[in-house]
Amino acid sequence: MTPNKIRSIARTAQSIEISTAWTSQITSSTLCHESLQLLVALVRDRRPTRILELGGGVSTAGLAGELDALPATTLLSCDHSSHYLGLSREQVGSHPRVRFLHAPLELYRFAGKRFVTYGGGFDEAIAAGGPYDMVLVDGPPGYEFGREAALYRVAPYLSDVAIILLDDSAREPEQQAMHQWKRVWADRFWAVHFPQYKKGFSVIVLRDASRIGRPRFGVVNRLRSYRATRLSMASPNLKGDPA
Ligand SMILES: C[S@@+](CC[C@H](N)C(=O)[O-])C[C@H]1O[C@@H](n2cnc3c(N)ncnc32)[C@H](O)[C@@H]1O
Repeated sequence: MTPNKIRSIARTAQSIEISTAWTSQITSSTLCHESLQLLVALVRDRRPTRILELGGGVSTAGLAGELDALPATTLLSCDHSSHYLGLSREQVGSHPRVRFLHAPLELYRFAGKRFVTYGGGFDEAIAAGGPYDMVLVDGPPGYEFGREAALYRVAPYLSDVAIILLDDSAREPEQQAMHQWKRVWADRFWAVHFPQYKKGFSVIVLRDASRIGRPRFGVVNRLRSYRATRLSMASPNLKGDPA
């Protein structure tokens, strides 16, 4: 995979027809039309064997819809909200190669920082389901809980050809997350950004993803992580169910 290849796939993606069953469900919380097209185009081109999705919705239906053409492919869809996980499950229906994981949010510590991210049996489930060739990071909700930790958790279970898709990547919290990821993986991190896709969408590639050792985050960054997570843990949206 090269940046040019990703840009070329993005050009072909523009002609992909997305079912109105999904486009009718696009909201400010879901992937936008262009991101959905790019997601589908990347699946068709890369033919991933194992897909991991963090944060389900329209994207889950979009990914599940591609599985008929990929008989060896499985999808593991994780959500912190039992409500939205239930909606995704209802929408996809029973599919032998789609699994759903409810992973309620918990505090998680990594290299001196604190995050609010997926808990429950998340580590065991993703370890059992990997290695992944494609990971969509679209949860937990970025402003309240942050998505930075997702990549630290998932990195050990990425295949050599894995691509990571980050939605909302033009927003401040996701920009911050990418800034930290670039520090951790340094020249082994590269990305192609599509800032024009609603709140942004990025395709990220990591070389030797599991080789991260113990990153050294700055003192201010570590202190901020504690302050931010104190606020997130107090959020009435911790469970992710609609009010
Ligand atoms: C950014 S959304 C994920 C959107 C999903 N990837 C999609 O394309 O529809 C992050 C979280 O919001 C919740 N969610 C899903 N669909 C939603 C919707 N239509 N409105 C509000 N929240 C939603 C879920 O808990 C999900 O994990």
